[in-house]
Amino acid sequence: MEPRCGFVAFFFFFFFFIFFFASVFPSAESKCSKGCDLALASYYVWPGSNLSLIAQLMRSQLVTDENVIVSYNKDQTISRDYVQSTTRINIPFPCDCLDGEFLGHMFQYGINQGDNYTEVAETYYSNLTTVDMLRKFNGNTMPENGTLNVAVNCSCGNREVSTLYGLFITWPLRPEDTLESIANNEKLDAALLQSYNPGVNFSQGSGLVYIPGKDQNGIYVPMESSSGSGLSGGVIGGICIGVVAGLLLLAVSMYFVHFQKKKDDTEPLSQDFQEFSVQEGKGYGGPTGITVDKSVEFSYEELAAATDNFSMAKKIGQGGFGAVYYAELRGEKAAIKKMDMQATREFLAELKVLTNVHHLNLVRLIGYCTERSLFLVYEYIDNGNLSEHLRDSGRDPLPWSIRVQIALDSARGLEYIHEHTVPVYIHRDIKSANILIDNKFHGKVADFGLTKLTEVGNASLPTGHLVGTFGYMPPEYAQYGDVSPKVDVYAFGVVLFELISAKEAIVRTTQSDADSKALVTMFHEVLEQPDPTEDLCKLVDPRLGNDYPIDSVLKMAQLARACTLEYPQLRPTMRSIVVALMTLYSSTTNDWDVQAFYNNPNPMNLMSGR
Ligand SMILES: Nc1ncnc2c1ncn2[C@@H]1O[C@H](COP(=O)(O)OP(=O)(O)O)[C@@H](O)[C@H]1O
Ligand SMILES: *[C@@H]1O[C@H](CO)[C@@H](O)[C@H](O)[C@H]1NC(C)=O
Ligand SMILES: *[C@@H]1O[C@H](CO)[C@@H](O)[C@H](O)[C@H]1NC(C)=O
Ligand SMILES: *[C@@H]1O[C@H](CO)[C@@H](O)[C@H](O)[C@H]1NC(C)=O
Repeated sequence: MEPRCGFVAFFFFFFFFIFFFASVFPSAESKCSKGCDLALASYYVWPGSNLSLIAQLMRSQLVTDENVIVSYNKDQTISRDYVQSTTRINIPFPCDCLDGEFLGHMFQYGINQGDNYTEVAETYYSNLTTVDMLRKFNGNTMPENGTLNVAVNCSCGNREVSTLYGLFITWPLRPEDTLESIANNEKLDAALLQSYNPGVNFSQGSGLVYIPGKDQNGIYVPMESSSGSGLSGGVIGGICIGVVAGLLLLAVSMYFVHFQKKKDDTEPLSQDFQEFSVQEGKGYGGPTGITVDKSVEFSYEELAAATDNFSMAKKIGQGGFGAVYYAELRGEKAAIKKMDMQATREFLAELKVLTNVHHLNLVRLIGYCTERSLFLVYEYIDNGNLSEHLRDSGRDPLPWSIRVQIALDSARGLEYIHEHTVPVYIHRDIKSANILIDNKFHGKVADFGLTKLTEVGNASLPTGHLVGTFGYMPPEYAQYGDVSPKVDVYAFGVVLFELISAKEAIVRTTQSDADSKALVTMFHEVLEQPDPTEDLCKLVDPRLGNDYPIDSVLKMAQLARACTLEYPQLRPTMRSIVVALMTLYSSTTNDWDVQAFYNNPNPMNLMSGR
């Protein structure tokens, strides 16, 4: 019972705060002062409707004819004259603050003989509105003629969840919908959808939900910066008082938590996590709608204590952004990065998302601290980075099958951030030094998501700081700054060449710097030959001796070549790279060399690495 005290106290005050807030400012949430330029309505095309009718029903300053609707539904078989019934189409409309009460748009419907509210709401407006709302804005009984006010609700986003989405689809749920089906269809994370619609059961068959939507160009639109919070002055005042009161209570509860910690210092971090970080982000614990970010925030005191005041003895590395320290925090090994910068507000929001990205092949961000400087707390990875393993003479050469395994691991980590996180990330600084190796010789990608620091917060960085490392940057990025996932694919290809050759990304051909050559160029020259095998063998890491299957090496080299092609469109996606490496991995079944490696390890490989 006892170790739960801090936790219980925390939640007691947390809920007290919510209750306090809700009772003092009951209507704060529903008030608005400002909407946004654009929202989308998901219109279920009922049999018998057609685009000209739909354009007329959904007319607004944004929809003046059918062509506008067509332009928002490029992925559908749709034209001015044809729309497939029983499918959904997106219809743009302005999202206004109606009566200072709620976000929506008032459409005008011209009444025809024999119309009734039910038909207008459930058929003509496809359940985007309800009979209740029609009654509210037009009186209890339907007028015989004239126009009806048809209110359709909308959303401009939620800063608490993410600022990356500022365009939302008002989505009337249908019986066939589930959280998973919508997430799959829209290629969005289910937990994200749930956090935008707290407490809503997506399988309930009716009612509205709000789903992040793409604009005419097929991209997600971020929230407008600052101002557009859409809250009136009075409400902001109310919130301020509420927040101050909340902070006071929080401080008191933190005292209890802290007090508790003193008594129970050995409480493992991971347990803390299960309890505190019931989170909005990736939803591994299932959606709950409860957000307690404090779990991942460390105090400066705690970090300073764990690193003997950031002493040299605890320093394990120096990166481009600052020093890295080893620490044991609440019983878990951690690497603390002291960044030479302050976090921007945007990046703070980003950090909360990053702490929720969990994958076996990604170095996990445990938490952070923003007092005095920005500190990032990562899980500690025991066994150094790939660059050291390939080139430090103090380390045993990695056997070929371990190299394939590390390639596959890192590919999986990258594939995950490219395809499965919300928002999707592009790493932009993939290199062997950013691939950490654990004590079972699995690879983990480090530092992803940090480019956002420089992107949104460049005010705090020297101007012109180009994210990326020479030798790993593809031509379109180095020359024009074009960013796409193919930037990572290129850099990953360079890492594959490194795994084969153990050479650096830029190879010095003589002693002078002037005579250096990109590793990519060296390999491409060889691989363009009709039979590259012989010259390829000359590029293979000499420390492998003859202990490598040349066909496997050739396949990896060819994959790396595809990754490093000049035109980004010609490079494969991380997904197909993972598939290719899985095949390579399973055909590289000479487990004997791995076993030999494990059974007779150089002590250096099993020690913490530094
Ligand atoms: N999570 C971690 N666990 C163990 N060592 C780490 C961790 N993160 C970074 N390091 C080590 O600290 C050094 C600097 O890291 P980093 O700041 O990522 O460098 P860079 O900015 O060059 O990528 C690296 O040599 C790396 O091996
Ligand atoms: C569209 O549908 C409406 C109502 O069903 C009908 O009156 C109209 O003629 C149709 N228009 C076209 C172009 O098919
Ligand atoms: C609207 O909802 C009603 C009741 O749930 C349903 O019968 C009807 O088919 C829905 N209309 C559309 C266009 O989905
Ligand atoms: C639209 O929003 C208002 C105000 O929040 C709410 O009362 C109403 O039920 C909502 N309508 C629908 C269909 O969800």
